[in-house]
Amino acid sequence: MENKRRRVFLVGLANQKDNIEYELEELANLAEANHLEPVESFTQMLERPNPATYFGKGKVAELADHAKTYDVDMIIANDELTPSQIRNLEQETGTTVVDRTGLILDIFAQRAQTKNAKLQVQLARLQYQLPRLRTSMSITLDQQTGAGGGGFTSRGAGETKLEQSRRRITKQMVHIRQELADIEKSEGTRSAQRQHNQLPNVALVGYTNAGKSTIMNQLLHRFGVGATSGTTKQVFEKDMLFATLNTTVRQLTLPDKHQFLLSDTVGFVSKLPHNLIEAFKSTLSEAANADLLLNIVDISDENYQDMIHTTQETLAQIGVSGRPMITVFNKADKAGLPFPEITGDNTITISALDTTSQDVLIDLIKKHIFKNDVVVKLHIPFTQGNIQAKLAANHTFISENFDESGTIIEVTLSPDEAHLYAPFII
Ligand code: GTP
Repeated sequence: MENKRRRVFLVGLANQKDNIEYELEELANLAEANHLEPVESFTQMLERPNPATYFGKGKVAELADHAKTYDVDMIIANDELTPSQIRNLEQETGTTVVDRTGLILDIFAQRAQTKNAKLQVQLARLQYQLPRLRTSMSITLDQQTGAGGGGFTSRGAGETKLEQSRRRITKQMVHIRQELADIEKSEGTRSAQRQHNQLPNVALVGYTNAGKSTIMNQLLHRFGVGATSGTTKQVFEKDMLFATLNTTVRQLTLPDKHQFLLSDTVGFVSKLPHNLIEAFKSTLSEAANADLLLNIVDISDENYQDMIHTTQETLAQIGVSGRPMITVFNKADKAGLPFPEITGDNTITISALDTTSQDVLIDLIKKHIFKNDVVVKLHIPFTQGNIQAKLAANHTFISENFDESGTIIEVTLSPDEAHLYAPFII
């Protein structure tokens, strides 16, 4: 028998700056992703949250009435609340209060698949729980939804028990940090190897569910390792929020033998909790170090402008700024827009599943990442056949001729390669 979904009331503060309708719609999606049923929403125009009760006093009473009328199981606030705001709101409304951060952390906890992602989410949750150990008057969200992670309520617990819980959590956090550091060490070696490879690094970023994994899989299917034999390792794609939590980096080899690395990572959402960003910093470093970012935008979503804004804000939060970026308007088929279509140097409209779109996207990527390439003429003596073989493995020659002592090759090289082969340039 399917569990009855819990009824939730979404509440938020409106101010001049933010688009509250969009944020509440997003909050409703997050609630649904957590198997909850949003039944009504409620906002107050307030520039700054009330430090004690989030809403102004009169509004809290109104909220309590509404919560009764709509018979909701839970109130979800659109912002991260302080422990005392949660406590006061729960007391005054007689209803469990969960904030946006708690909700997002729970979804992440359910989605985490890899060891790294699981540890990162667990760390973020513990950080969030530590100051709230005494707060909640109710069972926690994860207990209600059946998500893992364990509860953190200790209402009624004696001081000693509380102290014990704090110590246990702090110890757990130290342990997880150590485990993450160990994983990062081995990952770091891999990323150093990649850097040594000196292949350009292209990162897919963007709002959750925009189509990043789909684009990655489509390109892998055609240009990834094993593409010709149909054995490419695909990444997880699904029509749900935060389907991807770990970073995948794969090498693509184009028909002209140009190569680059493509990475896919966690999707963004407004107000991504600070401790999640902290916890995912190393995962997100792939984007931070990319030579080119592909900002994937779901153009079929009416809120796509807000989603672009969210992505920009999140990138700034993780310290990524000023990176070259192509905006990829995806799902043009769903939006009923013509595709593929390039606008200027940095914008393209595509449908991820359309081969022509993929080709045009690849051409645009190439224009950016290989823009400093130079065409050179090399003279490789016959005695250095190994050098010619190495070049031939990674490049398509523009021309190839011979003289009495060697081969004359015309080829496109990256600045680093041009430096490497400088002795042979004629
Ligand atoms: P997260 O992992 O949540 O960050 O999502 P994502 O950006 O990786 O999105 P994903 O690739 O998982 O795609 C989300 C949904 O959109 C899937 O159901 C895809 O099949 C669908 N989708 C992706 N691209 C297109 C497209 O061009 N057109 C249409 N119609 N659907 C698409």
